[in-house]
Amino acid sequence: MPTPQRTRIQTLLTAETTDDAPNPVTVSGWVKTVRSSGGVAFVQINDGSSLADLQIVVDANCPDYPLVDRLTTGCSLTAIGVLRESPGRGQRYEVAADSLTLLGDADPEEYPLQKKRHTLEFLRELAHLRPRTNTFGAVARVRNAMAFGIHQFFQQRGFLYVQTPIITASDAEGAGAMFRATTLDLNDLPTQGGQVDNNADFFGRPAFLTVSGQLEAEIFSQAMSDVYTFGPTFRAENSNTSRHLAEFWMVEPEVAFCDLDGLAQLAEDFLRSIFAHVLDNCSEDMAFFNRFYDKELITTLEDIANSDFERMTYTEAVNALQASGESFEFPVQWGSDLQSEHERYLTERKVGRPVIVTDYPSAIKAFYMRLNSRAPGDQGETVRAMDVLVPRIGEIIGGSQREERLDVLQTRMAEAGLDDAPYWWYLDLRRYGTTPHAGFGLGFERTVQFATGMQNIRDIIAFPRTPRSAEF
Ligand code: 4AD
Ligand code: MG
Repeated sequence: MPTPQRTRIQTLLTAETTDDAPNPVTVSGWVKTVRSSGGVAFVQINDGSSLADLQIVVDANCPDYPLVDRLTTGCSLTAIGVLRESPGRGQRYEVAADSLTLLGDADPEEYPLQKKRHTLEFLRELAHLRPRTNTFGAVARVRNAMAFGIHQFFQQRGFLYVQTPIITASDAEGAGAMFRATTLDLNDLPTQGGQVDNNADFFGRPAFLTVSGQLEAEIFSQAMSDVYTFGPTFRAENSNTSRHLAEFWMVEPEVAFCDLDGLAQLAEDFLRSIFAHVLDNCSEDMAFFNRFYDKELITTLEDIANSDFERMTYTEAVNALQASGESFEFPVQWGSDLQSEHERYLTERKVGRPVIVTDYPSAIKAFYMRLNSRAPGDQGETVRAMDVLVPRIGEIIGGSQREERLDVLQTRMAEAGLDDAPYWWYLDLRRYGTTPHAGFGLGFERTVQFATGMQNIRDIIAFPRTPRSAEF
């Protein structure tokens, strides 16, 4: 039997009139709830296309009415019937079923997602079923819309989308928080002179999962001018926080002939545009997050989409923190890295909107950031770095103008204790037609977390990887 053409629930619920729907119409989905009264059953189904469920009405005249007793939360079905205005409260349309097919049942004694509300912690243990809940369906749709909006933003500006490698031999951040990728048998390691023989490994050398596509994006920026990547990155940091994942997605534009001011403007335009995009394209889901997770979510995002970001240098930020009278857990002094509590003070209390902090001390930033010339009165060497901080999350973007001067870069690498041999190709970019250029990395999950008001980043990615956790 050929499968009848299915209509998505979202298409039906947003139809102008019932005449716009096929007649009869075929719908499929998973049952949320079933209730019966006076010989009529009301079955709420959802197919993931919208937050709202569709009500299927099955009355005693329907030949499949006896099936109703077997419908339970979580089972899957197909109904064929007529779309009509719903006389009941809570929905505009419903489908009056002419036929019903139970596709797969879900034993009510066993199915873990019953009608009551479950905690997010409980649902994390059920990553294979949680997409069926309202919250995780909404996160998945918002995440999808934001990914699309990100590509649209860059494509409309003529940026080229490049795919950078996931397995790499170089440490893009020079910070050493990398996962090793190996085919060596850890129980029987080949050795050479008492050391592991890396030559016997798959690539003939140590290889890792990338922490950032930046260095390869720089290669392409030095030929195609404006490029971006959007891919998975990996950090083997033992950070158990609500903002850290061991595997996360990063968006990394890299722009030739661009300085830090140009980059900060790009970052601001970019964030404002994607928040406007999500408000325009996900109104139903955003209303849900606003209602259940953060009562100020929509106004906050609207404000961000419509107002300029604050800019301040690291030195100004340190002065503001020292003058704040706050008692921070980590004391602030020039030269120390800004902790999450400091970032949040700056963006939430000091300015009340996103802040771009620039010109950090070179000692706390990566080797590739462009060194500033030191002005009289400076407390130390600084680099043309920028972090974009937003309320609740803190750092959402990290970037910089890149060091394009070969000699300065080599000195910085030596100071950072990096052997420059594996970076020969990176240095070649400074030997042949070097340009001022700049780029940043946006943490995709942190951005979706911010846009949805969700508290924990583990609820933003479908299958979170964190220390001691890689189920599913
Ligand atoms: O500041 P980061 O480390 O910058 C880089 O990796 C640069 N190479 C990017 C570039 O200039 N092309 O990371 C960029 C962003 C952070 O601002 C944060 O939003 C996110 O990536 N991020 C994480 N998100 C989730 N879990 C983690 N462990 C993260 N580490 C960084
Ligand atoms: Mg950073």
